[in-house]
Amino acid sequence: MKLVLVGPPGCGKGTQAVLIRDEYKIPQISTGDILRAAVRDGSALGKKVQDYMNSGQLVPDQLIIDVMSERLAKEDCANGYILDGFPRTLAQAEALDKLLISKKQKLDGVISIEVADDEVVKRLAGRRQCTGCGEGYHVAFKKPAKENVCDKCGSALYQRDDDKEETVRARLSVYRKQTEPLLNYYDKKDLLKRVEGKGNIEEIFKNISSLISEITPQ
Ligand code: AP5
Repeated sequence: MKLVLVGPPGCGKGTQAVLIRDEYKIPQISTGDILRAAVRDGSALGKKVQDYMNSGQLVPDQLIIDVMSERLAKEDCANGYILDGFPRTLAQAEALDKLLISKKQKLDGVISIEVADDEVVKRLAGRRQCTGCGEGYHVAFKKPAKENVCDKCGSALYQRDDDKEETVRARLSVYRKQTEPLLNYYDKKDLLKRVEGKGNIEEIFKNISSLISEITPQ
């Protein structure tokens, strides 16, 4: 099963992608996580992308297309994957199509998680992430048992640099201009499924699972 999750920053792509990964036993590939790891490691890629990420802009298409071509060639992708945060522009979507054609493969579905801008700002202000295993939390909606400590690995939690309100607003504007046109692109290919992203995390996952059950993997 090859799926894409699309939606504004903070709509819950990462949260739902992990649940889909665990239920369907396919790798979750988050371009945001890959890029943040590169920044943390101080790699050449990390140095190139840091300023774009901190200001809420997309990193250049060719950079991310190269990263994803390499990632999707790995063995764990043989039985499918869930893409969280890619593609994000029409150029990236077309590059993914080309890559899949070269492997004689097809996407099975694109799930759009729909959430209003004000809800996103509220969510991202309260988001915390584990410095150790990357597990995501929220100070109100998904609290760790002990404040600022990861339930899974005991490491400290941190707040992402790009979760300040001003940067979140910039990311939202980038989403509406550069990523939202993808919905029409995938709708025309009859791949798009929309899900309401406001409400209980488990309920949203149930709705996503029911959309996935309508898909016959190619
Ligand atoms: P990325 O990391 O992909 O950020 P994003 O798309 O802005 O998405 P987020 O990770 O902020 O949110 P999410 O939808 O995953 O929500 P989450 O589940 O965490 O990208 C970061 C940057 O990298 C980009 O700005 C860009 O610079 C660069 N980049 C990445 N990919 C790129 C690409 N393809 N091309 C170019 N540049 C790229 O949930 C958010 C919070 O809400 C959490 O605290 C969670 O616990 C909580 N929550 C989740 N669901 C609910 C719910 N139903 N109710 C209440 N709270 C909830």
